[in-house]
Amino acid sequence: MTSKWKGLILAGGTGSRLYPLTHAVNKHLLPIFDKPMIYYPLTTLMLGGVKDFVIVSSPDAIPQLQSLLGDGKKWGLTFEYVAQNKPGGIAEGFRIASNELAGHNIALILGDNIFYGDGLSKRIQEAAAEDKGATIFGYEVADPSAFGVVELDENGRAISLEEKPKKPKSKLAVPGIYFYDPDVLDIAWQLKPSGRGELEITDVNRAYMERGDLHVKTIGRGVAWLDGGTHADLFEAGQFIKVVEERTGLKVACPEEIAFRMGFINRDGLAALVDDSPKTEYQKYLKDLLERSL
Ligand code: G1P
Repeated sequence: MTSKWKGLILAGGTGSRLYPLTHAVNKHLLPIFDKPMIYYPLTTLMLGGVKDFVIVSSPDAIPQLQSLLGDGKKWGLTFEYVAQNKPGGIAEGFRIASNELAGHNIALILGDNIFYGDGLSKRIQEAAAEDKGATIFGYEVADPSAFGVVELDENGRAISLEEKPKKPKSKLAVPGIYFYDPDVLDIAWQLKPSGRGELEITDVNRAYMERGDLHVKTIGRGVAWLDGGTHADLFEAGQFIKVVEERTGLKVACPEEIAFRMGFINRDGLAALVDDSPKTEYQKYLKDLLERSL
């Protein structure tokens, strides 16, 4: 993948469903077991080869996010921060960050979407290898009515897309990870707000479908797709990560490790991160990684 891709992470919103946890802290900084939530979507895109990111969040949360992530250099990345004054829908992110995104292919991920599983990096790298049109995913869920829903024909081409339909036409929900060519900015500027007053990502995807330029890849049951939208979701996602990490001794969504394994930083870069970390179990994990790579 070339550097024409920019990752767009949406980390705004009021997090009202998580009140009072989100009263003083941005939702995307809340813990999923041992890491802040935003590490999970960030590393998902890193595994796809994305190195340059635009992070959209509320004006009061941007300093919190900057304090955690900085400018990205220590992980071989770049982060630009763009403020969204009030939530206006996922597709509004393209409008707000137009200047930063212009001319790039854009990998959009929602800041509370967590993906884990074998073969996931390959699926993401395949999506990022298509540089024309849009690529979305389909994931079978028990209750698709809570999501964007895609219906496919026998050749796997999308024939309908609906946002939170009362009577879903399929069981395939559309997860919050999407890959677009640079035309997506024009499409976003042409959108009209939906009935709930938001610029809907499903309307963006439908515009690509109508042009015959929408690719849909299915993600099988070997991959877990979770989110941190409610207290119960947050708790369950944390437990899921805890179980996987304790069983394997490997961390899920560790940006330092992924930056190193992807070649975004070298051994010296990783050694510097170890030196800069407080003496914790997290530092020990990075130190072991460094020693094993000799
Ligand atoms: C949003 C999108 C929906 C998508 C979901 C994935 O829903 O509108 O199409 O399936 O993210 O998490 P929302 O976060 O508004 O419930």
